Amino acid sequence: MEQTMEAIGFRRYGPAEVLEPLEVARPPLTPDGVSIRVAAAGVNPADWNLRSGRLRRFARLTFPFVPGADVAGVVAAVGPAVARFRPGDAVYAMLPNVAGGGYAEYAAAAERAVVPAPPNLSLAEAAGVPLAALTALQGLRDQAALRPGTWVLINGALGGVGHFGIQIAGALGARVVAVCSGRNADLARDLGAEEVLDYTRDDPTAGEARYDAIFDTVGATPFRHWRRALRRDGVFVTIVPTLGNLARQWLTRVGGGPRLRTFFVRPSGADLELLGDWIAAGRVRPVIERCYPLAEAVAAHRHSESRRARGKLVLIVDERLAASRAGAAPRRDVARAESGGDAVSASRQG
Ligand SMILES: NC(=O)c1ccc[n+]([C@@H]2O[C@H](COP(=O)([O-])OP(=O)(O)OC[C@H]3O[C@@H](n4cnc5c(N)ncnc54)[C@H](OP(=O)(O)O)[C@@H]3O)[C@@H](O)[C@H]2O)c1
Repeated sequence: MEQTMEAIGFRRYGPAEVLEPLEVARPPLTPDGVSIRVAAAGVNPADWNLRSGRLRRFARLTFPFVPGADVAGVVAAVGPAVARFRPGDAVYAMLPNVAGGGYAEYAAAAERAVVPAPPNLSLAEAAGVPLAALTALQGLRDQAALRPGTWVLINGALGGVGHFGIQIAGALGARVVAVCSGRNADLARDLGAEEVLDYTRDDPTAGEARYDAIFDTVGATPFRHWRRALRRDGVFVTIVPTLGNLARQWLTRVGGGPRLRTFFVRPSGADLELLGDWIAAGRVRPVIERCYPLAEAVAAHRHSESRRARGKLVLIVDERLAASRAGAAPRRDVARAESGGDAVSASRQG
């Protein structure tokens, strides 16, 4: 008999209020898959962009749809081809964005996307990491090609992606100028920005500074505006892909002068592992502005949609698990709770 679970999702596109409690089938376990008992799920703008229907031309959803790309929890079961994990392991993962599935008691991910959760974080904190930190890493390392000593300006520096961006740029050896509102300036400095520009008072491109890279997480100002603050061989990386940006990406590749690059984040266990190493070493940390119980997902979406979130917002799915540190997750309790005729968890012996 099919096993069900509780989740929050939507049956039609619309405002935050279309989110509702659902009873849905547990995701099936594939041979190379890991079933995760979810402790907490991160909230990302992609979740409400999917919910509102804004992305419907690019991503066809089947209803009811359970959003959520970020999960942290403990392994409930593994497929027969999985070698790295066993039930009870504390893990985190980025699920493919359009697949969703994080706002639920259980999620399934391919083994290659799953990584041990950093031992110095609670699982609630770990849930705030994957998608946003992977975006910052893949944008700054792969698209902007930051190297030690290069100067990068990060716009939207205290959002989910931006606050990781400050720290990841620092871990890559780059020097950071952060653009955010004045209320966030102290935190930006605390995370490693050498200089902070308040966009509510000044135009960040107005000074004499010329950057090697500009990393834009906001998308409110066009490339032609930022261009003048770039060195001739500089690069503007935007994580807000538009048709115009995709066209300009090609034009600036052949035209000479500062380039524009845009991209979509992809799940990567290897990249998440690197981030986990930096987190364990204290070089990167998630800032979690607020945790909401899963049942308050409507309020969490409204908060995220305000575009004023500071760092990350997280949904707590299992309060006890979410509070436990990944390094001290109650492995045996969880393994026991998962046993007893549970066909999913019985699929592999530790
Ligand atoms: N391409 C991809 O693969 C990818 C991946 C992840 C995210 N994204 C997109 O990237 C965007 C950012 O994601 P996120 O998770 O970082 O969002 P977020 O957490 O909601 O960002 C909120 C932050 O944006 C700042 N902000 C708002 N308006 C601003 C402005 N005009 N200038 C400077 N800062 C401003 C706010 O700072 P203040 O309160 O200080 O103004 C707030 O800290 C979203 O549109 C998301 O959909 C794309």
